[in-house]
Amino acid sequence: MTAEPLTAPGLAHLVDDRPADGVFRVDRSSLVSESVFADERRRIFDRCWLYVGHTSEVAKQGDFRARTVAGRPLVMWRGNDGQVRVFLNTCRHRGAQLCRVPEGNARGMSCFYHAWTYSNEGALTGLPDAGGYGEDFDRSRFGLQAPPQVAEYRGFVFCCFDPDAVSLPDYLGHATEYLDLVADQSPDMEVVDGVHEYSMDANWKLFVENSLDGYHLIPLHRTYFDYLKSTEDSYLDPRKATQAQDLGNGHAVITVEGPWARPVARWTPALGEENRDYVEGQRAQLEQRFGAERARRIATTDRNLLIFPNLIINDIMGVVVRTITPTAAGRTVIAQWTLATKGEPESVRAKRLDSFVTFQGPGGLATPDDMEACESCQLGLATAAESPWSDISRGIHKEADGGPFVASDEIQQRAFWRQWRDLLR
Ligand code: FES
Ligand SMILES: [Fe+2]
Repeated sequence: MTAEPLTAPGLAHLVDDRPADGVFRVDRSSLVSESVFADERRRIFDRCWLYVGHTSEVAKQGDFRARTVAGRPLVMWRGNDGQVRVFLNTCRHRGAQLCRVPEGNARGMSCFYHAWTYSNEGALTGLPDAGGYGEDFDRSRFGLQAPPQVAEYRGFVFCCFDPDAVSLPDYLGHATEYLDLVADQSPDMEVVDGVHEYSMDANWKLFVENSLDGYHLIPLHRTYFDYLKSTEDSYLDPRKATQAQDLGNGHAVITVEGPWARPVARWTPALGEENRDYVEGQRAQLEQRFGAERARRIATTDRNLLIFPNLIINDIMGVVVRTITPTAAGRTVIAQWTLATKGEPESVRAKRLDSFVTFQGPGGLATPDDMEACESCQLGLATAAESPWSDISRGIHKEADGGPFVASDEIQQRAFWRQWRDLLR
């Protein structure tokens, strides 16, 4: 899609942000307009750091994963030298997609069009009928190219299409504290094989809001909470002991002391008596590594983390890593993987995957509710011309004192929208 010029004088007026008056509202045209979406592609997705994948997904030399990020086909590929690289998935000859399967293992790949061949370190190694190019043809100028910036933080690989953007650590800022809490769950974390991919007829920002929304849990997910009450002996109300935080740069987090089991490392009967020793042992190891307080945070606090603009990590009864990819103003593709402790016993892995699909799977007891809510909003937004404002002001009266905020406040959604506004000025 060709990026269109920004609507003069920018789109900042679509966010009405007046904390002193208790007002925070968003113009609903921002959720339905294709021209706003074109501006977002240029100003947000072409400029921000975006998640590509996890290094554990390409564990062995030659392992590769094809991904589409901000409309660009990419390949994350571990070279024979052990290094993980991200390449633009396009042949240097005429542009055909070099990698045409979602994943695999290869020392090199041959383009199917004229058979230029590249190694898993990106070099052009094969040039059929090379004599036709003359003696001065320099193959080293035709290796696979990378996005302008690629970097990794604790196994999470990101890329950025803006060569002038700040470094990844500067971009992540305070969010690294929460990525660390996820990564520190065990000395070795891995993405479990397999992906859930689904899509919804709704704007991507509605899904971002939903992912950080502590206000909807009880009314929208009644089925799941009824199920939990019937299966957990020690049911806790998930509205208790919650927090919400603006982490800067558009990143945000909500934390909840949830009522459910966590394989790392909060045992409840739902994890099975046979796994109790293992899970409690994990907790003891965490205490040894990090001390009691940090171990408690890692083991018993759920986190829903937004890395602006499109990475969500839901660290709840399973760790879900989710990317949000808009394809039109009213269409969004979601891909999700689960991150787990490498080497955990099969019986724990089975329970983990079971609770992950039960709550967070696309056919589980919660995600379909969330999809329905987002799609229902999108249908309602067809009235944007007559009913132009969405309210996101919950908890705004606490901003003057800097909080504290709870997960059912909306500081986290305001953090997202304020960054959105600042990038679209
Ligand atoms: S386009 Fe790849 S070899 Fe020609
Ligand atoms: Fe939800």
